[in-house]
Amino acid sequence: MTSLHLTDRLGGLAFGGDYNPEQWDEPVWKEDDELMRRARVNLATVGVFSWALLEPEEGRYDFAWLDTHVDRLHANGVAVDLATPTASPPPWFTLAHPDALTVRPDGTRLTHGSRDTYCLTAPAYRNASRRIAGALAERYGDHPALALWHVHNEYATLCYCDHTAAAFRVWLRDRHGSLDALNEAWGTAFWSQRYGSWEQVLPPRATNWHKNPGQQLDFHRFWSDEVIAAYREQRETIRAHSDRPVTTNLMLPAYQNMDLWALARELDVVSSDQYPSAPGLDAAADAAFHADRARSLGGGRPWLLMEQGTNTVYDRDRVLAKEPGDVLRHTLGHIARGSEGALFFQWRQSRAGAETWHSGMVPHAGSDSRIFREVTQTGEAVARLGELAGSTVTGSVAVLHDADAWWALGVDGLPSAGLDYHAALGRAHRALWDAGVTVDFAHPGHDLGRYPLVVAPALFLLSDEAAENLRRYVAGGGTLLVQHASGYVDDRLHARLGGYPAPPLREALGIRVEEYRPLRRDERLTLSDGSHGTVWSESVRADGAQTLAAYTHGMLADRPALTRHRFGTGQGWYLSTLLDDTAYAALVARLLGEAGVGPEVQGLPRRVEAVTRHAPDGRRWRFLISHRTEPVPLPEPAHDLLTGGPVSELPPGGCVVLRIA
Ligand code: GLA
Repeated sequence: MTSLHLTDRLGGLAFGGDYNPEQWDEPVWKEDDELMRRARVNLATVGVFSWALLEPEEGRYDFAWLDTHVDRLHANGVAVDLATPTASPPPWFTLAHPDALTVRPDGTRLTHGSRDTYCLTAPAYRNASRRIAGALAERYGDHPALALWHVHNEYATLCYCDHTAAAFRVWLRDRHGSLDALNEAWGTAFWSQRYGSWEQVLPPRATNWHKNPGQQLDFHRFWSDEVIAAYREQRETIRAHSDRPVTTNLMLPAYQNMDLWALARELDVVSSDQYPSAPGLDAAADAAFHADRARSLGGGRPWLLMEQGTNTVYDRDRVLAKEPGDVLRHTLGHIARGSEGALFFQWRQSRAGAETWHSGMVPHAGSDSRIFREVTQTGEAVARLGELAGSTVTGSVAVLHDADAWWALGVDGLPSAGLDYHAALGRAHRALWDAGVTVDFAHPGHDLGRYPLVVAPALFLLSDEAAENLRRYVAGGGTLLVQHASGYVDDRLHARLGGYPAPPLREALGIRVEEYRPLRRDERLTLSDGSHGTVWSESVRADGAQTLAAYTHGMLADRPALTRHRFGTGQGWYLSTLLDDTAYAALVARLLGEAGVGPEVQGLPRRVEAVTRHAPDGRRWRFLISHRTEPVPLPEPAHDLLTGGPVSELPPGGCVVLRIA
């Protein structure tokens, strides 16, 4: 087991970032030491992409340069988060093992020249990864600077090669037991897909029309297990030499090809990277979405923001800037929601190479810059929050997330491309965030009893057990909102017969969906309460439920669009279309009211975030983060950790961390 919590070793919350000194030379390292002190950096992630320098030839290691930096950082009071470099194999490796290069679904084998170009199932890659992880652990496992192990970087690369095919077959045998069971699960009786031997079964490679959806779903599940196995191998290799905590950085909220609940169980501390895709208020909302996901994946345990950008908003084909003050606001937004600090990618903005234009804590302009001043101000703020270490956050509403449901909305042949899992989850979170409520994410199979309100925005796939769990939740007094196209298929992607959703949920919601009617791209339906629906509509039959809003036109006229059903001591709500933003916000407000959930702080104006961290001994701290342009008076003066004195007002765009009784 691990010897010390990260924050005990650091003596407070973490602040720092990826540090790649190999891109620079000695005068810059000297300046780094000085600037890190100024910015109150206490943790640096080292070695993420350094394989070619650490092992210049197979089996020949060069640790001298890394010794220098680890010792230098240590002497400067900066602890090390040491990465295994396996996300970026060196040229000698891929030349020697071309079979370990990624193969795309269309059969194209990629070549060396970027990063993340490897196949996780290739034996040569797995062996080389274990070897380099072991060599690093042996050398640095008990180095006094070492605070954390960072296995790999953002596991995400999928591969469709022959190694993968072989491993997939082994996994499928294990899951299905027999070829007959696999044929049944995948529905291969249709389109002449029936498999007569295991050798005939392949990963879902490029083919002419729809791929088999069962094959696509199982491939995701298989890949997720493969990632977990690869992570475990490195973790166990490290643990043989080191007692420091081990993690791998996820990239929430959108981009993961794995079951994050399962992977998070393997991590000593959940860590994750966040890069918003829209600036301004949307970026702050995305940070909150990210942080609530990261905390929830670890069951509420403290987690760590492993990367963010000082000035990076990825808007598809361009990098947009953050607003002045966002470095502090986003950092505190994450810490408020349970992160034990805040790290960035990367310390010094690259002068050359692939990420020259990704922002840094020290930008190209140098330390005499707005960005470095904001970094320093943020480092000082984080340094004042040491007493929060180990405290946690509890959400008052749960939004349901399930990897199977996510993947189920990514398979071929669905009735509408408008069913966007990630967008649905983000929208539910955003409406609750706007309402000032702290949100947890939960799996539909979890015990949900402590949440007065649960929102299920996109459970297209719902297993029998999870459907029964949701029924029990409502029967026991919970308020559940289920949104359109939910519970349509079981965990083998077989359609529910006799009407959707799965029978236990039909009972709890008091409805039966008889027909789905996806809408045209630009189609907008008016409902009886004046709200509008897009993307999807359904022919719903109320079976005990009360209709709160109905469709008004066409064959669905007078059919229920929004329903409520008293079931047991709880209430099951069903919404059969995608409501416009204003109406959705009003619905969420109504549900919060009926479930008796108030905002974190009563009476605050919109665009002020409020979150509370709790220590096991009863101490509490309240974060208030303003996204407003005028000052906001506080209900009563309180002690602010950031200024070290009493405050009575939140300045425009300002933040306070209040010690509260
Ligand atoms: C990811 C990676 C980093 C860096 C950043 C910025 O989060 O982990 O190595 O590439 O994105 O692009």
